[in-house]
Amino acid sequence: MSFEEDFEKGFDSDRLVMSTKGEFDAEENVLRPKTLADYVGQQKVKENISVFISSAKMRGEALDHVLLYGPPGLGKTTLAHIIANELGVQIKLTSGPAIERGGDLAAILTNLGENDVLFIDEIHRLNHSVEEVLYSAMEDYALDIIVGKGPSAKNLRFPLKHFTLIGATTKAGMLASPLRDRFGVLCRLEMYTAEELTQIVTRSAKTLGIGIEPEAAREIARRSRGTPRIANRLLKRVRDFAAVKGNATVTLDDARYALQKMDIDELGLDDTDRGLLRALIEKFGGGPAGLETLAATINEDANTIEDVYEPYLMQIGFIARTPRGRVCLKGAYEHLGMKMSEKQKAQISMFDE
Ligand SMILES: Nc1ncnc2c1ncn2[C@@H]1O[C@H](COP(=O)(O)OP(=O)(O)O)[C@@H](O)[C@H]1O
Ligand SMILES: [Mg+2]
Repeated sequence: MSFEEDFEKGFDSDRLVMSTKGEFDAEENVLRPKTLADYVGQQKVKENISVFISSAKMRGEALDHVLLYGPPGLGKTTLAHIIANELGVQIKLTSGPAIERGGDLAAILTNLGENDVLFIDEIHRLNHSVEEVLYSAMEDYALDIIVGKGPSAKNLRFPLKHFTLIGATTKAGMLASPLRDRFGVLCRLEMYTAEELTQIVTRSAKTLGIGIEPEAAREIARRSRGTPRIANRLLKRVRDFAAVKGNATVTLDDARYALQKMDIDELGLDDTDRGLLRALIEKFGGGPAGLETLAATINEDANTIEDVYEPYLMQIGFIARTPRGRVCLKGAYEHLGMKMSEKQKAQISMFDE
């Protein structure tokens, strides 16, 4: 979509904070770092992965299966590409919902080369019959196929080439434990610091040929909810605003102006975040409120709230998940300039700090 079309329709902040599609978005691919050295942050994950990659290469074997989990936009797909690249092998990409039958997965597996990487995005959405095929493939590098029915049914086993499965998910808790147990390497991606995001924004600006002042890069980073995908999107939108004003280099004022126009506040919260917090406070007395009820109240999808909005609100200590539902914490009241009742104070004292 061009900037003009965007402008006419008004800016859709949903698109800025979520877009889980991404994978085949050409511009996103341009911005993906290609090596571990260029992959910013995630120090612990990088150190471990780099050891496992070196060891696999020394042994000439396939890297153990890797599960990457964390909220959308933190770099799971990027890291999968980097791992394949560092191993010097091919990568095949698919996703949980795209594989409908066991046979589809069997076809993909038999086409992998020795030590190749198979990336399955949204792996928590694999259906059960497909998962069954995956078990023996992961454990024994073999396909178990049942031929015939009833007492005459026979179990045939076909060997597969050795391969590495890289699974990505926003919901590690939703993986069946037999599947989770078959991953040798589990990596949880963390939200990025403002410094790390500043590095990412600066690097992306360079790649896209956008001139930007360091203070402007920092401002975008600060308001990107700890998420590189959001940082890159905000950078592009801020560039648009600056370009229309005729500024070749994005200044701090440009960044602030554009972010304000997009209703992204000092902390990077948008209308949906604020609507969610406000609903929780005004309609549910600060909570606890169940996710589904809350979602229905603000007309959002429960999954989107859970995957996209909540992780950051929890990270900055604005809400907590309790066994009885979501609860608003002190910081949220302060940020919205809303007063807490005595009852709310007493209630959240159990969860705060
Ligand atoms: N560690 C990182 N360093 C630099 N850029 C990153 C990093 N992680 C993610 N990105 C950028 O953010 C975008 C989204 O990353 P992606 O791997 O698609 O996230 P996920 O698969 O977790 O949703 C990519 O375009 C990539 O350029
Ligand atoms: Mg992805």
